[in-house]
Amino acid sequence: MDNNHLWWRDGIIYQIYPRSFADSNGDGIGDLEGIISRLDYLKDLGIDAIWLSPIYPSPDVDFGYDVSNYLDIDPKFGNLETFDRLVKLAHERGIRIILDLVLNHTSDQHPWFIESRKSRDNPFRDYYLWRDPKPNGDPPNNWLSCFGGSGWELDPTTGQMYFHMFYKEQPDVNWRNPAVRQYMLDVFKFWLDRGVDGFRLDVFNAYYKSPNFEDNPMGPIRPSLMGLRAFDRMKHIYDIDQPEMIPLLQDIRKILNSYGETYSVGETFIGGADKAALYCGDDRLHATFNFEFLHCPWWAHAFYQSITRWEGILSDEAWPNYVLNNHDNPRSATRYARGEEDDRLKVAAALLLTLRGTPFMYYGEEIGMRDIPISRDQIKDPWGRRYWPFFKGRDGCRSPMQWNAMPNAGFSPEGVETWLPVHSNYPVRNVMTQEADPESLLNWYKRLIAARKAHPSLRTGAFIPLTDGKRFILAYLRQGKDETTMVVLNFSSRRQPLTLPGDQTGRKWEYLLSNKRSSMIPVEGRVIPLEPNEALILREVV
Ligand code: GLC
Ligand code: CA
Repeated sequence: MDNNHLWWRDGIIYQIYPRSFADSNGDGIGDLEGIISRLDYLKDLGIDAIWLSPIYPSPDVDFGYDVSNYLDIDPKFGNLETFDRLVKLAHERGIRIILDLVLNHTSDQHPWFIESRKSRDNPFRDYYLWRDPKPNGDPPNNWLSCFGGSGWELDPTTGQMYFHMFYKEQPDVNWRNPAVRQYMLDVFKFWLDRGVDGFRLDVFNAYYKSPNFEDNPMGPIRPSLMGLRAFDRMKHIYDIDQPEMIPLLQDIRKILNSYGETYSVGETFIGGADKAALYCGDDRLHATFNFEFLHCPWWAHAFYQSITRWEGILSDEAWPNYVLNNHDNPRSATRYARGEEDDRLKVAAALLLTLRGTPFMYYGEEIGMRDIPISRDQIKDPWGRRYWPFFKGRDGCRSPMQWNAMPNAGFSPEGVETWLPVHSNYPVRNVMTQEADPESLLNWYKRLIAARKAHPSLRTGAFIPLTDGKRFILAYLRQGKDETTMVVLNFSSRRQPLTLPGDQTGRKWEYLLSNKRSSMIPVEGRVIPLEPNEALILREVV
């Protein structure tokens, strides 16, 4: 990897959940025009690219992750003309556009599936995974749906079953069918031709299934979002991660390369950093997500372990990334913060934005949005309905963006019923209020982003840990070609001294940034005294 600026390596990617960002026409659902109206906000924040969760026509069983047409925009979001304008206006502000491609499955309302289920000899039959049930009516094998129950659904019209890794309204396509494979590759080109800069690939490593449909063996339980489910006791060796994936990624990469400086980031389904590492490199995806931070407890050592593991397994061709929030998990503010306090979130932000790896942000993270509490009758995510009250689904982290203290938080006009409730803290927790407060989380994010932009070592410098985080403080160097920065994060809510390792004696540091002070602290020998939850960034004086 060379040292020239690469937008996706050096920049910050901001995920927008389009239903929840900004509603321009008062139907309670966010839309593309709404996003356009907020581009200046995003530019001011300093992000480099927007990843849009799916905006294609969808019956919304899984809110866009069930696509009924890959080549259009859902009317609730706008149309292709609005989309082209969004791309143009974003580009004018130096912001790239990343689309979410959901190619493992379609909606059951996709014309392919409507045809496919009509008869066993329909020309689209082989676009999906159809099998006979066992003579006793049982599913053809033991594969399960990630959202609960068997992965096989009986279709009475033909008496066969189709496989769905997610909801039954999301039938998995048959990637072994050359027509499907070719069509999907053309989907990439369709959007690249419209000026899109990259893609996030939804559960990409599930595209191929074993052609023999063997039963998966059972194995030790794997901790998951949900806690205990049969799906997590299964070793997924036949329903995901098939060898055909690699040549496919190579073909995808060739297409992307032919369009210049593009990007692909894969959502590796099931498994941690080691597996993710397999799928990125110069001839495969540019990056694959590492979701470990989503599951780290508030313990500096847990983050330390996750970072060093990821640094250790990625090849030189690959580039790390870090994620504190996305649309599938409780927000970091809900996981880490106490009450309405943002101290810990400032430490978390400093971590995310000073590591060696592309930072991914999720809308509202910068103002510390909390999950909304959800009652049984408010649930929109079918997963939550199924497992209530043990798991309440993923609606909590998808509530409307809090722009200001007006009714509906400025997301929708007054009087409109928004698709999910606005968090009740919006009168105080919103963009407008935080813009006006120099000490706000939003302004802290902006300062960190500006520091990352101003200091090459914070973007591409080597990551050299100074502590292992076992004693509350995570400290590391970012060593670049021409400068070295030091990041010191106090995870505890008490004053803590950091004692630098002996080999750091004699180095001189100047103040860059802190959430707790505005100028340099005297560094006494090797000891740096830190305020509670302080995030301090220093630069070596040479
Ligand atoms: C991914 C998405 C999730 C979706 C699932 C099925 O995990 O992030 O939101 O439900 O894929 O498409
Ligand atoms: Ca709308």
